[in-house]
Amino acid sequence: MNYTLRKLTDPTPEELEEIRAIFDIAFASERAFQSVVGPEKFPQILPILNRAQLIAGSLGGEIIIAADAANSNKIIGAIIWFGPGREIYDSDEQRKRALGPLMEVFPPEAKQWYAEVTPKMEAFKKASFGDRARTEWYLQRVGVLPDWQGKGVGTALIEEGRKRVGKHGIALQAVEPKNVSYYEYLGFKNKGHIDVQALHGDFTVTSLFWEP
Ligand SMILES: CC(C)(COP(=O)(O)OP(=O)(O)OC[C@H]1O[C@@H](n2cnc3c(N)ncnc32)[C@H](O)[C@@H]1OP(=O)(O)O)[C@@H](O)C(=O)NCCC(=O)NCCS
Repeated sequence: MNYTLRKLTDPTPEELEEIRAIFDIAFASERAFQSVVGPEKFPQILPILNRAQLIAGSLGGEIIIAADAANSNKIIGAIIWFGPGREIYDSDEQRKRALGPLMEVFPPEAKQWYAEVTPKMEAFKKASFGDRARTEWYLQRVGVLPDWQGKGVGTALIEEGRKRVGKHGIALQAVEPKNVSYYEYLGFKNKGHIDVQALHGDFTVTSLFWEP
């Protein structure tokens, strides 16, 4: 299968929406966010979460896409990175344009839950990575269309990032055991896990770090 990788510079809203639609499909069974907002609201809020992450990535991070060369360069997968010194929702512009619209549709009880759990999650991140989640690269989100999964696209998107990090490492957090073992298979080291009780279910977050 023939695909190309491309870093988006100043993506248009249409391009971001095209990737958002890919993420909506790729993350349709994501458990962590579903456990937070509940299975009923999840399908409606997932696109808004994906849009928020993509707008944040376009403002403070980097987005790399994989496109199907044989089908009018339709996007088949994408990855969002935040480089050293940056993280998601860390600027007023990101908070206003990315987080703001997400918060508008967030159920009040989920907002309350986030407010309570955020200090714990921050402490866990610090215990796993020290300051390196912020001072090195952070892999925020990677998703590939189901028909294209298992064909090397995800690995190519991660490798493309790895080529660019120089002397830096890469931090990420994953929930699905399959994804944890995938990242370990790619050379990321397991830096510990935390069990999280959300309003609509429990899940485990695992920290992973790749040293150059
Ligand atoms: C996770 C994801 C991005 C990986 O992308 P992908 O293009 O499917 O990945 P690749 O084809 O490059 O690599 C997967 C292959 O690596 C190999 N592999 C993965 N884990 C492995 C392991 N532990 N041991 C040996 N081989 C392994 C397998 O060959 C696997 O293919 P398979 O699933 O058909 O067996 C993609 O599956 C996806 O979009 N999932 C849904 C969204 C998601 O969960 N994103 C990650 C959030 S942290």
